[in-house]
Amino acid sequence: MSRLDQAGDDWTSAILDLTLETSDYSIWPTSLQHYLEKTRDLALPRSTSSMLTPFVFFFPLITTLGADKSLIDKEISKQILGGMSDKKIHEVRLMSQLIKDVADQQGITSVIDLGSGQGYLSRALAFDYGLEVLAVDMSEIQTKGAIRFDEKAKKQTKEKEQWANLRHVTEKVTSENLSHILDDAVDKKWLVTGLHTCGDLSPHIFRLFTENDQIACAVNVGCCYNALTPSGFPMISFS
Ligand SMILES: C[S@@+](CC[C@H](N)C(=O)[O-])C[C@H]1O[C@@H](n2cnc3c(N)ncnc32)[C@H](O)[C@@H]1O
Repeated sequence: MSRLDQAGDDWTSAILDLTLETSDYSIWPTSLQHYLEKTRDLALPRSTSSMLTPFVFFFPLITTLGADKSLIDKEISKQILGGMSDKKIHEVRLMSQLIKDVADQQGITSVIDLGSGQGYLSRALAFDYGLEVLAVDMSEIQTKGAIRFDEKAKKQTKEKEQWANLRHVTEKVTSENLSHILDDAVDKKWLVTGLHTCGDLSPHIFRLFTENDQIACAVNVGCCYNALTPSGFPMISFS
């Protein structure tokens, strides 16, 4: 039985009558209106117009890590903004600064970006911060898209040396192949990161961090926790 069937006939007909022009929800069943209100209340704010939210969220962490507070205002270079929504710019700007700061503290210049997608974070780390970046994603569509964005950005930059530091690899990261991913990069310490690492990718990052001596630090923002499988638990067992 689908969720729509379970919701009951009055919900079903209200939802099936929905059109793009629908604006009068007062004709909906009261229980459905309450459900809608509750869902909206639970949603996280998506506006990037106020800088208060990121400061509240990241500032204690950045301060704890002893970051240079002037870093917080650094913008992403315009050449690498291609494809990024305002939300992505906001995330990449803060996260790349945090990663650079953590990497500097640990004396690290190499970063693995797991689940790198279209490479927005990887490009910022390589281009704006001069870090060596290995960008790994299981989807060839994503890695090819990332390379296309690299090419476009390259055309707009005079200094080409930063681009030599960025490499894209198509590979599905699993518990079994985690250490092989770094096989060609022995003798150096890495920071492992991931932005919006779906499902089990976050536990994979923590496992890589705890089990591999080459990984000196980890900076992770997870997502799609509904897609976590029991294989990722308990994370405490990784320590
Ligand atoms: C939500 S996207 C985030 C992309 C990018 N980090 C960003 O913030 O724009 C998650 C990405 O992780 C990749 N991914 C998910 N599980 C993976 C795995 N086990 N190994 C490699 N890539 C994975 C997906 O293909 C997808 O591109």
